[in-house]
Amino acid sequence: MPVPLFDTATPLEPLREELRGALERVMESGRFVLGPQVAAFEREFAAYCGADHAVGVANGTDAITLALRAMGVGPGDEVVVPSFTFYASAEAIGPTGATPVFCDVDPQTYCVTPDTVGAALTARTKAVIAVHLFGNVAPIAEIQALGVPVLEDAAQAAGSTSSPGRPGALGTAATWSFYPSKNLGGFGDGGMVTTSDPELAERVRILRFHGSRDKVTYEQIGCNSRLDELQAALLRVQLPHLDGWADGRRRAGTYYEQAGLGELVGLPCPVAGASPAWHLYVVSHPDADGLKHALTAAGIGCAGYYRTPVHRQPAMRAWGSGVELPGTDEAARTHLAIPMSPVLSTEQAAEVVAAVRAAGG
Ligand SMILES: Cc1ncc(COP(=O)(O)O)c(C=O)c1O
Repeated sequence: MPVPLFDTATPLEPLREELRGALERVMESGRFVLGPQVAAFEREFAAYCGADHAVGVANGTDAITLALRAMGVGPGDEVVVPSFTFYASAEAIGPTGATPVFCDVDPQTYCVTPDTVGAALTARTKAVIAVHLFGNVAPIAEIQALGVPVLEDAAQAAGSTSSPGRPGALGTAATWSFYPSKNLGGFGDGGMVTTSDPELAERVRILRFHGSRDKVTYEQIGCNSRLDELQAALLRVQLPHLDGWADGRRRAGTYYEQAGLGELVGLPCPVAGASPAWHLYVVSHPDADGLKHALTAAGIGCAGYYRTPVHRQPAMRAWGSGVELPGTDEAARTHLAIPMSPVLSTEQAAEVVAAVRAAGG
């Protein structure tokens, strides 16, 4: 029985009629960009996160750039960012004019720690990007205690929780992606910035619309990064189901554990106090690529997402060459994402574990 890496379609089946209704209402409203659906989704998503403000933007990459600019990051500044993450976490620093400074991760949790961030701080550090990678929740309060503003990259953490609160309300600001494969995914691109700082939120609102508050006076060079009504309306239908889907993901993790996966590979390791809604269920194995080939041959979806960490990517040569990050290199070499979805069954989990066992995992 093949098991896909993702299943984004099955959880949406029961919502088809509601989604169709939302789509038709937007079509009939004649409002397609930054209208009442976006405003309502911003309110509902902020409340969900426990933040005071949410500002919808075009995607999760723009969300990072605009949040950093609204935090005052600009030319001459440094932004600390992990290298073991999706490329966009670091790429988004470029348009601010600041330079990325790569820091290491804990290869158990795949997240930054106060020690790895502390080692990268200089007098020019203006902000730290802490990525909640794979849905784990990075220790934001401990990093902020170093005395530096923290931007949470929460693109992979919708539905996750932690003892100090939900991602999105833990740092100075947080950024989200609603790319279709995410835990809360749209039917196209979309993104959000959440914060409880009203002035920061207002700066993002201005930047997302060409640097203007009123479409009459243009105060600064902003950009066009708007969330559309269709995405907002479709995401509003899904938001009330996010926690249920997150529970399904946690349950799937339990199925893997009960089927004995932990005897074969390293299991995902939550940061202390975190209850991750695993966006990707990532195990570790000394021969992750060998395991990947065997699982693929057995029809089990799997992927090594970040084999080449960001600081070793060609576009990052100016800032990455000579940087040594042993935790990152270990994580890059040994990680492997295996099937995860809110509807992964015990039978599917058993099938995956049997294939890992057969591969000599
Ligand atoms: C950790 C992380 N940061 C940023 C992004 C960028 O989001 P988007 O693809 O919506 O621009 C993604 C999404 O792919 C991501 O996984």
